[in-house]
Amino acid sequence: MAATQGAKPRVLVTRKMMPDVEARIASLFDATLNAADSPLTREDALARAGDYDAILLTSFDKHFGKDFVGLVPDRMKIIATHSVGYDHLDIPLAKSRGIAVTNTPDVLTDATADISMLLILGAARGASWGDRMVRQDQWGETTLISPLGFDVSGRSLGILGMGRIGQAVARRASGFGMKLHYHSRSRLDPRLEHGATYHGRFEDMLPHCHFLSINCASTPATRNIVNDRTIALLPDGAIVVNAARGDIIDDDALIAALQSGKLAAAGLDVFRNEPKIDPRFRALDKVFLLPHLGSATPGTRSAMGHRAVDNLAAFFRGERPRDLLTGD
Ligand code: DGY
Repeated sequence: MAATQGAKPRVLVTRKMMPDVEARIASLFDATLNAADSPLTREDALARAGDYDAILLTSFDKHFGKDFVGLVPDRMKIIATHSVGYDHLDIPLAKSRGIAVTNTPDVLTDATADISMLLILGAARGASWGDRMVRQDQWGETTLISPLGFDVSGRSLGILGMGRIGQAVARRASGFGMKLHYHSRSRLDPRLEHGATYHGRFEDMLPHCHFLSINCASTPATRNIVNDRTIALLPDGAIVVNAARGDIIDDDALIAALQSGKLAAAGLDVFRNEPKIDPRFRALDKVFLLPHLGSATPGTRSAMGHRAVDNLAAFFRGERPRDLLTGD
């Protein structure tokens, strides 16, 4: 959809972006940037939306609510999310209203896979309690039997979700000598499997997983898929890591399994209701916690910003954006 002849499209940007991205936004659009980097409330965003043709928001704006796309005034024609995940937006509702929605895949694959590996290593080798011991001056005489973490090399890793990020985790984990398994809705071309064994049912993969890495999207089918029943299928002493979305795990089940020793450790970069995480996680020494850092490098955040801008620019040139989620 082309903007009114001569006038630049009006774009509301909800968060401060990398400087090169903001400069490009300012040159292409009549944009309102968020110089103060103070997140907009849902009410602010809705109150202002009527003055804009587009909004550039992020997955960290999930407080806008999934129904945001149903409430913005008709003037708003495109919502570009600066994220690969789009579970914070109601895509069918946007589509039914004729609002285009785009995301930013590919450009954060490596950064997010790196964080999955960091979670695997950090949870297994006690990065959290080790760091705390040193900082709190509790590093006494080293003994040979304590403290100890767990080996990664030679252990098996099950990857839930073998999309771009899952495949990048598989590439990294095979370099660490891990034995790979995966579950996805369908089997990949063997050239993309990196030697991983495919399991058509999630439940069938679990007994093979010393480590379980969650790298799938949050959908009705995956929400709470890691729960009492599925955790029980993991070997005793397994380790669960999550760099995808918090609501894929049932927190009560994960915490109970960590407390009982069924699970040896966990590594979490994402949480249900983040940043207000379940406080019980803080008290568990065997959990390695990160504040949703999957895409948090300057290069990745810049690439995501440019990808979102590319999508907006294409839309306003009257072209189909590369990452259109509301197409046929
Ligand atoms: C995404 O892009 O969906 C990430 O979770 C944000 O870092």
